[in-house]
Amino acid sequence: MVAQVIDGKAFAAKLRAQVAEQVATLKEAHGIIPGLAVVLVGEDPASQVYVRSKGKQTVEVGMNSYEHKLDASTSEEDLLALIDRLNNDPEVHGILVQLPLPKHLNEDLVINAIDPAKDVDGFHISNVGLLGTGQKSMVPCTPLGCLMMLRDHHGSLSGMDAVVIGRSNIVGKPMAQLLLGDSCTVTIAHSRTKNLAEVVRRADIVVAAVGRPEMVPGDWIKPGATVIDVGINRIERDGKTKLVGDVHYDSCAEVAGAITPVPGGVGPMTIACLLANTLTACTRANNLPEPKGLTA
Ligand code: GUN
Repeated sequence: MVAQVIDGKAFAAKLRAQVAEQVATLKEAHGIIPGLAVVLVGEDPASQVYVRSKGKQTVEVGMNSYEHKLDASTSEEDLLALIDRLNNDPEVHGILVQLPLPKHLNEDLVINAIDPAKDVDGFHISNVGLLGTGQKSMVPCTPLGCLMMLRDHHGSLSGMDAVVIGRSNIVGKPMAQLLLGDSCTVTIAHSRTKNLAEVVRRADIVVAAVGRPEMVPGDWIKPGATVIDVGINRIERDGKTKLVGDVHYDSCAEVAGAITPVPGGVGPMTIACLLANTLTACTRANNLPEPKGLTA
């Protein structure tokens, strides 16, 4: 079997077009422009690239982008004061604090200072609890993007066996909650899981989010399974830098029924879902009907 390639780049473009259309309607009908504030502390090169990309795409769909770039030595007090201002700014509907933060700042404290209604990352403890109890919440962007692609590919996920490899708060845990919400039988596997190969072989859906280059080989995949690769790992091969996922693409693609490539799979969906979350937050803040298909 040769797997169908799930084109995340095309899916993300379609989602952005849908968001742009809704943003235009909001503007025309209500004079409201969704606004996203992104806070970057320090000069981490990867974070700078992400933040630039977020700002650019926010503007491209017709939203307002507010970038706050703070010095690496910014105090917790000053960062919390900025978050308080953004929480109280009616033109800001979404707030994202780029992670990781410099070591002297307490990430949990900072994230939990964001108004949960503006927490477009879905990392606030209230949103984590709402998602875990099946209530309306803001849903973390990367798992939301994975869920959208899975629903698009399969229709219903009900009764499927899903294995999530990785237990991070950003991807693994919320991904498991979303799959459970769609009535999958969910296993969360991680670095201490015994017989990982056997566990993965049972899965109709494999979501790999461990951050280890090409860790999952094709002979761990059940024939016909759907493989969602969240990993983005930069490796050196044949003297060149290359991006690879957490699964060994070529061997997995020979066995799987469908697979997301790296690059061009999950990656582009993350920012598209951030824009969708900002639109969702804006409609909720204004007591307007939520556009369909943009959240879980
Ligand atoms: N750093 C890496 N991924 C993310 C993300 O999804 N959100 C934020 N805020 N920071 C990140």
